[in-house]
Amino acid sequence: MPRYGDVNVSFLAGGRNAQMGMLDGKVAIVTGAGNGVGRGEAVLLAAHGAKVVVNDLGGSVTGDGADAKVADEVVEVIKSRGGEAVANYDSVADYDGAGNIVRSAIDAFGRLDVLVNNAGILRDKMMFSMSPEDFDAVVKVHMYGTFNTMQHASAYWRNESKEGRQPSASIINTVSSAGLQGQASQINYGAAKAGIAAMTIIAGLELTRYGVRANCVGPGGATRMVGAAMAGIEIKNPDEYTEFTAMNPGNSAPAVVFLASDESKPLTGQVLRMVGNSLCVYKPWEMGEEFFATDKEGDAAQWDPADIGRILGRYHFKTMNAGIDAQRRR
Ligand SMILES: NC(=O)c1ccc[n+]([C@@H]2O[C@H](COP(=O)([O-])OP(=O)(O)OC[C@H]3O[C@@H](n4cnc5c(N)ncnc54)[C@H](O)[C@@H]3O)[C@@H](O)[C@H]2O)c1
Repeated sequence: MPRYGDVNVSFLAGGRNAQMGMLDGKVAIVTGAGNGVGRGEAVLLAAHGAKVVVNDLGGSVTGDGADAKVADEVVEVIKSRGGEAVANYDSVADYDGAGNIVRSAIDAFGRLDVLVNNAGILRDKMMFSMSPEDFDAVVKVHMYGTFNTMQHASAYWRNESKEGRQPSASIINTVSSAGLQGQASQINYGAAKAGIAAMTIIAGLELTRYGVRANCVGPGGATRMVGAAMAGIEIKNPDEYTEFTAMNPGNSAPAVVFLASDESKPLTGQVLRMVGNSLCVYKPWEMGEEFFATDKEGDAAQWDPADIGRILGRYHFKTMNAGIDAQRRR
């Protein structure tokens, strides 16, 4: 395993104003920035010079209720550290609300450069016990929420480009191993997260010409969302940690600062996982080895279903030793 012990990452200590300038002049939105992962991202983006819209509906982990205090508190943390931020309380699940989030960046700071889609809820259940409402609510916040803000922001950036002000902008969406690798009891959440990864690839393809990159971050950490699934874990706000701790949800924020900055150009359509002190890049779905069906004369033919298990068992899954046929195949 490679180690990069020479990398000295200075992390935000409470009360310190670490203006390091990687994002000077940039305006960023972080959705769901009132708690956990998003809160760590908003605080670190501001510490690196970005002006931040702290969006949060302020509801429960399951998506019930609303409370403006949640976003206001993070704005205060950023301001107390010398940064600039405004609050927004709209729901990302609401298309017009998402439009308000994008507009609040332009109204408050005159532009938008970075969109971090992080807001999320959980309603875990095995599928045979899951109601359509639980499926819908989770997909609405994660997947529709990501589409809603991207739709409004991309229209703004396309217009900027057409007006001769080519953006250098970045979308950072939030995925999870629950969607990219699979996790029982999270069919709603996993579907949404895998969908977000797919939407990000497509956003990258559609928006490059307008100066917009789109990537994902796979975060981790002890948040109230994780606390809903794992009893007994200590949950602290990322800005309350003063020492490196593997479960600090703020540990994913450096990946977001990098992707938000022009240093990550021309990266687009990628998924970075940053949890604790680990950084890796997810491999996307890709085609494996191809097998071709032929008739007795060797001409292209439709597959016989009876051949599929034998061919995949011998040459792909290797559950069957192909014997001397493996040699003939070469
Ligand atoms: N914590 C982890 O280990 C982990 C792992 C993988 C992915 N994630 C992802 O990270 C993101 C943040 O999760 P977290 O663990 O920090 O959870 P969290 O519950 O601490 O934070 C989520 C925030 O989103 C806000 N929110 C919910 N619905 C909203 C809506 N409709 N509009 C605006 N804001 C809304 C909530 O009020 C909350 O402040 C989520 O997308 C989650 O799926 C987290």
